[in-house]
Amino acid sequence: MRRTVIAGNWKMNMTPKAAVAFINELKTMTVGLDKCDIVLCVPFVDIAPAVEAAAGSNIHIGAENVHFAKSGAYTGEISAEMLTEIGTEYVVVGHSERRQYFAETDETVNLRTKAALAAGLKVILCLGEVKEERLSGITNEVVSMQTKLDLAGISAEELKNVIIAYEPVWAIGTGLTATPEQADETCGVIRNVIRELYGDAAAEDITIQYGGSMNDANAAELLSKENVDGGLIGGASLKTDKFITIIKAAN
Ligand code: 13P
Repeated sequence: MRRTVIAGNWKMNMTPKAAVAFINELKTMTVGLDKCDIVLCVPFVDIAPAVEAAAGSNIHIGAENVHFAKSGAYTGEISAEMLTEIGTEYVVVGHSERRQYFAETDETVNLRTKAALAAGLKVILCLGEVKEERLSGITNEVVSMQTKLDLAGISAEELKNVIIAYEPVWAIGTGLTATPEQADETCGVIRNVIRELYGDAAAEDITIQYGGSMNDANAAELLSKENVDGGLIGGASLKTDKFITIIKAAN
């Protein structure tokens, strides 16, 4: 049975001190809530203190990106080995903000995914259509193509450490949420691509999250859908009261 995973993506928010305070508070709130995995993907400099603060809890720590080279002349980048050495378990790859503002392509997303998996990280692979694609009725083609390109060359064994986050770009940070039916349908399309590529068992096992203005008010309905196995949450993961409501909805 696939796991429900509730993950926060803090983006460029929260200093190391704020991260520790947040985790200490969330830790006491999440005692006994073990029906979903809880992940916080945090800025690089927050990772080490976050790992220490989260020790012994159901909170797992992730990074927000990783470079594909093992090491070398890539000023400003962080390698997978650097992440694992400080206790990072997860990494977000292919977020639309990286694609939009930092020129990432399906090709580099694929390389980053491979490098992360090779180092033993679990990958939260983000993909989703932009508004014009949704409006012109090509969402299914877009997410199918992204799924295939981003996972090219990744084995069925490696796929066990991949979570897919379906994040319609028009719903990110806009307050516009996909309807539960839209989220369910598109996550289902992605699951069918996985079925095509890796077979029935892989399709049933893979966790597919929805992301895009998921919050304390709409999480329960989104998470009730068959194909929605969790959430990747931006804004609502920055406040413990909102985030815990989403975690409880998943439990
Ligand atoms: P918001 O929840 O703020 O819309 O962000 C979603 C997101 O981008 C998570 O990765």
